[in-house]
Formats: sequence, structure tokens, C-alpha cells
Amino acid sequence: MDTKNVKKTKRTNTAKVAAKSSAFNVNLSKLKIKSMDDYEAIHQKALEDPAKFWGERAKSLLHWFKPWEKTLEWDFAKPHVEWFTGGKTNASYNCLDRHIDGPRRNKVALIWQGDPEDDVRIWTYQMLYDRVCRFASALKNLGVRKGDRVVIYLPMIPEMVVSMLACSRIGAVHVLVFAGFSASSAQSRIQDCEAKVVITSDGMFRAGRVMPLKANIDEALKDCPSVRRVIVVNRTNMPTAMKERRDIWWRDVMSDRSLNARLPAVQMDAEDLLFILYTSGSTGKPKGVMHTTGGYLTYAAHTTQLVFDTREEDVHWCTADIGWITGHTYGVYGPLLLGGTTMMFEGGPRWPDPDRFWHIIEKYRVNTFYTAPTAIRLLIRDGDEWLEKHDRSSLRILGSVGEPIDAKTWNWYRDTVGDGKIPVVDTWWQTESGGILVSPIPYVTPLKPGSASLPLPGIDVEVLKEDGKPAKVDEEGHLVVKNPWPGMLRGVFGDKSKFKENYFSRFSGFYLSGDGVKKDQDGYLWLQGRLDDVINVSGHRFSTAEMEAAFNAHPAVAESSVVGMPHSVKGEAIYAFIHLKEEEKPTDAMRSDLRKWVRKEIGPIATPEYIQFVESLPKTRSGKIMRRVLRKIVSGNIEDLGDLTTLVDVSVVEALVTEHELLTGRSSLS
Ligand code: PRX
Repeated sequence: MDTKNVKKTKRTNTAKVAAKSSAFNVNLSKLKIKSMDDYEAIHQKALEDPAKFWGERAKSLLHWFKPWEKTLEWDFAKPHVEWFTGGKTNASYNCLDRHIDGPRRNKVALIWQGDPEDDVRIWTYQMLYDRVCRFASALKNLGVRKGDRVVIYLPMIPEMVVSMLACSRIGAVHVLVFAGFSASSAQSRIQDCEAKVVITSDGMFRAGRVMPLKANIDEALKDCPSVRRVIVVNRTNMPTAMKERRDIWWRDVMSDRSLNARLPAVQMDAEDLLFILYTSGSTGKPKGVMHTTGGYLTYAAHTTQLVFDTREEDVHWCTADIGWITGHTYGVYGPLLLGGTTMMFEGGPRWPDPDRFWHIIEKYRVNTFYTAPTAIRLLIRDGDEWLEKHDRSSLRILGSVGEPIDAKTWNWYRDTVGDGKIPVVDTWWQTESGGILVSPIPYVTPLKPGSASLPLPGIDVEVLKEDGKPAKVDEEGHLVVKNPWPGMLRGVFGDKSKFKENYFSRFSGFYLSGDGVKKDQDGYLWLQGRLDDVINVSGHRFSTAEMEAAFNAHPAVAESSVVGMPHSVKGEAIYAFIHLKEEEKPTDAMRSDLRKWVRKEIGPIATPEYIQFVESLPKTRSGKIMRRVLRKIVSGNIEDLGDLTTLVDVSVVEALVTEHELLTGRSSLS
């Protein structure tokens, strides 16, 4: 699309928006962007005076017990970032109390659809408030204090939301650990944040099956001395061992009649820690990304409003598990801060049939739907007939997140799911950013299939080449951000140096995202995937170093190297090159044992697609594995392997290519 066309579409879209706004006479937002001219004007204003722009946003979106003294203090060179210094607020209060004091008291806050179709819970704001206050009061009775860390290791059940808001109500820091992670992954996170309490469930439902969960915590807690209590939700009724004086059932905790169902929310400093969420970086150890109260909440509410155009009567459904940042911001905090109705689904998209998503959209008349390209690609394969059976006319906005969305998938999403009538917002962001940084404004920004389009107002992104100079039009470079935004991370838990090292040292004065990007002649951003050693499998981040550490811990492995391989559904798949110890045999049994090993070490989501046994790995004279070569081999791109002169033994590459072709049944040249 050229600039001329963009301008043309701009006018068309502006007219459409004007028509739409009068059809829905509810205005939740003070910051209405109705045209590209509005967008540009607001963007400019926000860049010129960020303190004024974000100050107004924070004031209009949140309740503050005490106003802040200073809106923004920052220096990326140090790095140091503070928002709304001196201000007092509370996440739980903003999500609940201020709504129940008004006409939203009996409005539905949460619609929960269980994996079994008949398992449904629908809670109003009042009902959610009562449960949160009671559970917060119970946590206090168990000795949880402001600043203490509480690990939440739960499947997608409403107790997840109750736990998060109960923690924030009393100033405790919640640390969600995705229930698909193994005992060992849960253990390292519990150890790193020194959690005092763990909340889990006996088991979980997934696609009609029942699986244990508490057993993982028992395993993990063999070496977690900080944990005093484990609260166990009874989800499946499966036989569950309970350790005396440590484990306690959720229902017993909540049946205490002395719990305070009106427990006041603690006044938190804007910069007090709200939560930690672990994510993979380029090192072996996951990083505890820290988000603080005032800035994160402002940014969650602001971006939800802007990107999902939240309206009073909407049902918003973010399909991401709450154990990931997408679920935190757009499943829980964003919608509840705005007094919206959020949908939560315990199951997966293809059980009992591949129309489960479309069925749920019809059943609850979902208006704004937010999912990952992997799920869309999976559902495309099942055929349009599953979709056509269901009324999708309630849908107004379709969102995509977590990985690049290719044009083919994007077009199907818009034209088949949305009948070509509603916009797709491809939203780019990260655990570290707290909320969306780059996305179209629905019904306003002219869309280009496969591009996340433009930065949101006030977000100043740049594309830098390896030498730090700005990239030219259509030239790939590093996506960096020039200025702070309220939702950005404030550090890495327990490791001060990592904040600078990971995000601010590659290009001085810029936040480094780790992603590659191209900017076209209209300023549209085309995300190209990670530039560091992070693999994105089905929208989930894995560090190759973390995977390699897991393989290397296996008694038969001498050395390993893990890279991402392009995959038609998952985006990327895990491909492991394994060099066994001399006495070990590269058999199929060994391959399956290694697969099981990694599932146990990290979790089922980290199961490698291919394991290739190798005699040796391509190493430089200084002993470094040339990963670039491995990446090219697995992506079938062997014509251009680059400069191999620093390799100790070039013949290794040839052997690797042959073995790869045998294993995957394809020729790298095809
Ligand atoms: O590589 C980018 C990719 O996902 C990474 C962030 O992963 P995580 O912290 O787990 O958060 C996922 C949900 C926000 C990014 O560095 N990514 C995320 N959204 C997109 C994307 N890549 C391309 N297009 C997107 N829309």
C-alpha cells in the first residue's frame, strides 16, 4: 500500500468511525481518537509534554487516594524510571470498590466458562469484591504482609483473579506461574522470588482430561524453604496429598466466618511493586520482570480503552492464560479497571470440537476478541464450516498478539471470522512493556495485513542498525523505544544489573526490545521476530540457553545447541542439536527420553519438535558455537551460510545438513 492509498483509506475510515460512535452512545473514554488527524495531534502532544499527557490519563482512569508530586523522572542511561512519585493508589480498589459504589455494582465483572460446557460461573462486581475481600483477609490471617511474594500456580479458574486482586488489596506481590510449567520451572521461580505462600489446585481440566497439579508443587517445595503455606483449590476432586501444617484447602480458608468481607484496600505508593512475572531472556535463567502499581495500572486501562474501544455493554474475551502478561493486562486488569465484563475460558480451542471458540463467542455475544496467531492458524486448518455454524455478529474488534501474524492468517481472521467487516488489531508488545506499544487504533488506522502498524500515542520507537544508526525505509533493524511509558518494567527482581544489561546497554539511551523490525515508507512497523536467542513457540517465549541448560543436565548429553525452526502453525518450533557423551548411543529411545526430560525440566510447552544427534557442533576457533549456521540449516536456507572461515572444521556443516535432511525428510535447498 502506498502513502496515497493510506491517505485515502484514512478518510474512509474516519467516516466509518463517526457513524459508529453515534450508533453506540456510550463514551467511556475522554481520549477519543476518531481520525488519523486526531491520532497524529495526540501523538505529538504526548511526545512534547509526556508529563501532562500521562498525568491527565492517570487522573482520569484511576482513583488516587493521594495525588502524586512528580509525574515523571527518568534517565535511560542509568537506567532509572519513576512515574507518579508520591501518589497513592491500589489496584484492587480501582478494579472493584469504585465500581461497586456506583451503578456497576450488579454488572457482570467476570464470565467464566469451564472446560466442561455446563461449568459456568458468572460473578457481578459485588460478588467478586466479596470474594476478594474475604480472601485478602484470609491471606492476612496467614501472615502475608505488604511486599511479601505470593506465587499463583493455577489453571484458568476464577480463583486466579480472586487471588491476584486479594494480593494487591493488601500490598502483597503476586507472581503468576503458568500451570503448564513443570515442577522444576515452578521451583526455580518460587526460589527466586522467595515466595511465602503458594496458591494451587488439586488438578486441572484440559480438553476433557483431568491432570494433577498440586503434585508439581509438592515436588517443587522439596527445596523452597521460604514457603510457609500452600492454599489448594479443589477443582477436580482428585485424590490429593495434603501436608500437615503447610497445606490448606481454599474452601476451608474461605469458610472462616470471621473473614472481613469489606477489608479496606491498602494505600500503595505508585512505585510499590504490584507483581513479578518471569519471562525468558537470552540467558539460561528466567527474569523476574517487575511492574509497579500506578504506572502499570494507568497503562493497562489506557491501552485497553484505546485498542479495544471498551464500551459499557461489551463482553471482552482475551483467550490468553492469565499466567502470561497478556492475561494479566487484557484478561484481568485492563477490563476490570474500566468496569468492563471479561470472559475467562478454562479450555482449549479444539475440544470437544474445533468450534469451541466460535461457540463461546455466540453463546456470550463476545464483542472484542483477542487471541494469538497460533490459535488462528490451528483453526484455519480445521476448515471454515466450524465457524460458519455460529453467529459472530456481536464481534466488533479482533485482536492478535504474541507473534508475527502473516498476511494469509490475518486475511482469514478479518475476512472469515470477521466477515470482512471489522478491523484486526495486530498488537505488538512484551512482558516488559506491561501493555501494548504498537497497534492500529480500530476503525481509524488504515490496516495493512501483517503489520502491527504504528506506535500508540506517546510511544517513540526507532529502528536502529547494528552500528546504532537509524535504519532506512524497509531496512531491518532493532526495535528500540526512545522514551519511557508508564507500563514499562522497573527492573529485574533480585538482580539490579540485569535491568541495564538486558535493556539499556546495547544502544545507550534506548530501551532494547530484542525484536527485529522494518519500517516502511508510511512509517508502518513490520515485526520480524527476535534478534536475540529467544524462540517464540506459539506465542510463548523460551530462551535457547534455558533449553540448552535443561538438555545439558541430562546424564547422557555432552553438549547441545537449540534454535528456532519455522513452523506453519506454531510460528516457531524447538529444534535441538545434541552431542551425546562418547559411551551413549543415538537411538530413538534416547530421543524419546530426552523429550520426556525436557518436558519434565521445563514443561510440556517446551517439547522439542526435532532432536538431531550430532558428532560435533560448528565451533569457531575461540570455542563458540556458530548458532547462525544452525538457524540457517533448520530454516532450509543453506545457500547463504555466510562467512565460515572462522570455523575450526567446515566439514561439520555438511554432515549437519545431511543429517537434518534425513531427520526432517526435506531437502534444505527446496
Ligand atoms: O517477539 C515479540 C513477540 O513476543 C515477544 C514478547 O513475548 P512475551 O513477553 O511473552 O509477551 C507476549 C505478549 C505480549 C516480543 O518480543 N510478539 C508479541 N506480539 C507480537 C510479537 N511479534 C510480532 N507481532 C506481534 N504482534
